[in-house]
Amino acid sequence: MTDTADTSADLHKKEKVASDEAIWAPGGPVEDWTTDYDIRDEDYVNDPVPIWAEMREKCPIAHTDRLGGSWNPTRFDDIRAMAKMVPELSSRQVLVMPPPPGQEEQSRYEQQIAAAPITADPPIHDWTRRMLLPAFAPRAVLAYEEYTTELAHSLIDGFIENGQCDGAKDYAEQIPPRVIAHMIGVDPGMADQFVIWVNGVLGEGLNDPELRLKTRDELLGFIGAEVQSRMEDPKEDLLTQLLFMELDHPEANITPEVVIGITNLLIVAGIDTTWSSIGSALWHLGTNPSDLERLRNEPDLMPIAVEEFLRYYAPVTMARVADADVEIGDVCIHAGDKVLMNFPAANHDPEHFENPDEFIIDRARNRHVAFGSGPHRCAGSNLARLEMTAALTAWIERIPEFHVSDREPMKWAGGQVRGPRIMPMSFPPGEKR
Ligand code: HEM
Repeated sequence: MTDTADTSADLHKKEKVASDEAIWAPGGPVEDWTTDYDIRDEDYVNDPVPIWAEMREKCPIAHTDRLGGSWNPTRFDDIRAMAKMVPELSSRQVLVMPPPPGQEEQSRYEQQIAAAPITADPPIHDWTRRMLLPAFAPRAVLAYEEYTTELAHSLIDGFIENGQCDGAKDYAEQIPPRVIAHMIGVDPGMADQFVIWVNGVLGEGLNDPELRLKTRDELLGFIGAEVQSRMEDPKEDLLTQLLFMELDHPEANITPEVVIGITNLLIVAGIDTTWSSIGSALWHLGTNPSDLERLRNEPDLMPIAVEEFLRYYAPVTMARVADADVEIGDVCIHAGDKVLMNFPAANHDPEHFENPDEFIIDRARNRHVAFGSGPHRCAGSNLARLEMTAALTAWIERIPEFHVSDREPMKWAGGQVRGPRIMPMSFPPGEKR
């Protein structure tokens, strides 16, 4: 064999890269939403509600071969049942796309602690989730209310005199990364970098495995250095608490790697989810003046309105990978198949919500699953609600009249986390505080 000849391992690698490239390449237009859906399709990203209605009616657990293949349930009951199918439907790969090259060789343990508890199955899930719950209890998150409100007002000070801003970039996107930095105890000046990293993992990174890999290395490098510094010099912050936590659980094995994974999740899960929800709520109010007027005149309506924003514009669709064959309805999901946990579609199921595709700001019965369902239900929901409430309250107080303008085109992000990314807003200029 000459030096330049390929070994069989090289050939295998080349085949793998070629097949991965085929998976990542953009597909053509969707011909049939029930057999060929594409979560990256522009129509799906811009307005998925009518597409879910079509899928639910024609084929409530749709399938596609795109992106390596996946199932997409759209009925509330199916999604809630699937969320409980643990450990048959494993969380160790919560992104529907295949792992970027290099990452598929991770062990099952490494996959599970990569962003625990969201990527973990029992028993690792049980104790990593328990590590986080106290910090996100309703009373505990109240400690961040003043900081979040002050932050919202200072952001508004930055653009109120101009009579215009980008509601996504200048406002919604700015709040969650600073709250998370404040919470875990890292420099809030890192917030812009956090946004770039989140985009590299969940945004553009979903279509670009190299970017995803590079981002992952940078983010984990940053967190690793922060963890190392807390080990040498403990501080009064969540990162230190997690590192030195003593948990009364027989299986708990809290290592620096586990804490790095949890922090990775807090940065990724805590940022573009909440930024998407704040952005979608502002988009709604900026395009529906009568709902804006109601919130302006009835500020006590805010908690109920926040639930309807969450239901109607639920941003998060995580995935599962089947570890065993699972029957649901008349579908058999085979071991190795991916399944989207389409909580946003569940929130539009007419079997569970009256007039589900209508936004009803004072909807009385609203048991939505925007925060998921079952054992992986969002651990940060109290903080998310607090951030949404503080951001929307400060905005309406200072900018009571506004609209989404056509200064430049709106841009929505879609895929597994949906929300506005470019959102030109106009309003009568106001004064700084
Ligand atoms: C409006 C904003 C948010 C939404 C809609 C949201 C939604 C979700 C959903 C649907 C899940 C379940 C995923 C699954 O079943 O695989 C989840 C899990 C999780 N979320 Fe959130 N989330 C939000 C904000 C946050 C924030 C601010 C944090 C913390 C900083 C957070 C931390 C978590 C954690 C730790 C989990 C994993 C729980 C577990 O696996 O046991 N989330 N979130």
